[in-house]
Amino acid sequence: MTKIFAHRGSAGTHPENTMVSFQEAERVGADGIELDVQMTKDGQIVVIHDETIDRTTNGTGWVKEFTYRELRKFDASYKFAGQYGFCPIPLLEEVLSWGKQTKLLFNIELKNGFIQYERLEEQVIQMIKEYEMEERVILSSFNHNSMARCHRIAPEIETALLYMENLYEPWRYIQAIGASALHPYYVTVNESFIREAHKHGVAVRPFTINKEAVMKRMFRYHVDAIVTDYPAKAKKILRSEH
Ligand code: G3P
Ligand code: CA
Repeated sequence: MTKIFAHRGSAGTHPENTMVSFQEAERVGADGIELDVQMTKDGQIVVIHDETIDRTTNGTGWVKEFTYRELRKFDASYKFAGQYGFCPIPLLEEVLSWGKQTKLLFNIELKNGFIQYERLEEQVIQMIKEYEMEERVILSSFNHNSMARCHRIAPEIETALLYMENLYEPWRYIQAIGASALHPYYVTVNESFIREAHKHGVAVRPFTINKEAVMKRMFRYHVDAIVTDYPAKAKKILRSEH
């Protein structure tokens, strides 16, 4: 059955990429959580979507120009300010340490398309190994060189390629990289594409699907997972279909 991955946690109802958002996703029965990582000035791996803190916190500036101690002072409750108290930017380690106690899968997206953070791949992988979560993590990125590097370092951890537009026979392309899954923008996905991907043993998890009609269509195609800002809604619709 299609799995439900909560995009940046339950980002439609809680502040994205914060612990309350991840905890809410688990509470409503999501199968997995998608989250984004960047690196601070002092080499800490933090969970935040943008390269700057401008959009999602009460501060401004580049993530890479703050130490984690400095970053932790900003409130990432964003458009939900006042509803969930003070929500700090979490460390990846904080998420894994909490997540280890759950049954969740973790899709960690490396946000290294614009800034090539030094040794981001090595550090993320080392942390996954420390928590012995290799089997529960899927690494993904729009930076496919980075995914090739992850696969070289840790072939036992699943890697997935993110992309926005149609690719020609991507099951051939991913072989060269060693990736085993495709995470496409959902508009590129149709039933025959899913059938073909599955024939080649490739998992497909389209993003970001929030509308009921699109959810239903993706469930009908038997995509491996959908990535959604509304995991509670997606679970409810999925249950009503079965
Ligand atoms: O995993 C899919 C999705 O998260 C990629 O886009 O911009 O939301 O990180 P974005
Ligand atoms: Ca993401």
